[in-house]
Amino acid sequence: MLGNFAYHNPTKLYFGDGALCYLNEELPKYGKVVQLIYGGGSIKKNGLYDEIVSILKKNGKTIVEDGGVMPNPTVEKLREGVRIARENGVDFLLAVGGGSCCDYAKAVSVSVKCGEDPWDKYFIRFEEPTCEILPVGCVLTMAGTGSEMNGGSVITNHEAKLKIGHVFGDEVMPKFSILNPKYTYSLPKRQMVAGVYDIFNHICEQYFSGTDDNVSDYLAEGLMKSVVKNSRAAVLDPENYEARSNIMWAATWALNTLIACGKETDWMVHMIGQAVGAYTDQTHGMTLAAVSLPYYRFIMPYGVAKFARFAKEVWGVSEEGKSEKELAEAGLAEMEKWMKEIGVSMNISSLGVTPDMIEGIADATILLDGGYKKLTRDDVVRILKESL
Ligand code: NZQ
Ligand code: ZN
Repeated sequence: MLGNFAYHNPTKLYFGDGALCYLNEELPKYGKVVQLIYGGGSIKKNGLYDEIVSILKKNGKTIVEDGGVMPNPTVEKLREGVRIARENGVDFLLAVGGGSCCDYAKAVSVSVKCGEDPWDKYFIRFEEPTCEILPVGCVLTMAGTGSEMNGGSVITNHEAKLKIGHVFGDEVMPKFSILNPKYTYSLPKRQMVAGVYDIFNHICEQYFSGTDDNVSDYLAEGLMKSVVKNSRAAVLDPENYEARSNIMWAATWALNTLIACGKETDWMVHMIGQAVGAYTDQTHGMTLAAVSLPYYRFIMPYGVAKFARFAKEVWGVSEEGKSEKELAEAGLAEMEKWMKEIGVSMNISSLGVTPDMIEGIADATILLDGGYKKLTRDDVVRILKESL
């Protein structure tokens, strides 16, 4: 293992059926005025909203409503959330929902006491918070992003056609997150499999880099195998608790900084996927799925040994009679079969991308250099064309 690192994760997790009761232990640690952040209404339909409101009231909290957080939260919604928090003297932000609600809560938390425009400060200039940060807690209803145990916050600016993530430090990470796999039962299948692919790709982004022997890669392989196995089971039976709980736990570990320890990381599927998202506002996991195979087939020759290991260790492909390159290709073919089997989007045309958008999407793609090949803008254009 060649890289140096510090590892510390301050988020406390409560996991399992019944975990919501621990909200009673956490709430007394924070102030009286709670901004209750949620999305478009799924928590009202499945009864979670009523349960949370009742716990907040029992704990003597004043509830400030902040619903309507959309998937891929926008900069306009962020500004509204900041205004709500300021006008009501909010002490604590409680996000109840998927990654969008958790990400949004973090973005509000660093902006309420900050005089500058949050978009410019955090998502254009990538500055760190210099003001007091409001504490955030999460009750997670969708497995995918890992936002429940990381500092990431992704905000979309439709006017600028940009979707940008800022990974904040420890002080912005949720103070606690409550994870009950049963809350994910009411997810539509499309959202469930988008979340599954998001998890899988988070692991890939941290796995496909480096040539040293690194414990993070062994952890990544175990997580990937678990995601593949349990996603198959969950697609057949969405109320399979064992499968849904494994998926939820794998999601957290896929992106809570552990498997990046000692490694460089790639993240180019996310950069291209986010640019597709900026143009289409499509579901995050689907934007990743739609560009993944052209991307991985393009970079495979530059990291062929790792792709061959991926084939053997994650997909169980036999190396007998195959060259390293053939083995690597067979691994990606297995991945493609699994993606089709669970039903994720396999091209960007199905997400609304038309050929005339390609140049703009390439312009909106941030180029990083942690993977096996540093892409040029022309490479991005080629990958996008192959993803159509
Ligand atoms: O808004 P509601 O009505 O709650 O419906 C949501 C939404 O329509 C629905 N949903 C969530 N839980 C449900 C449910 N429907 C029924 N039952 C439930 N239990 O699912 C839809 C999608 O929710 P959303 O929160 O948008 O999904 P996800 O968790 O995938 O979050 C996506 C956002 O996270 C960002 C993405 O870019 C995107 O903006 N990401 C955040 C990351 C991080 N913090 O580290 C990393 C990721 O790579 C990602 O970029
Ligand atoms: Zn993601």
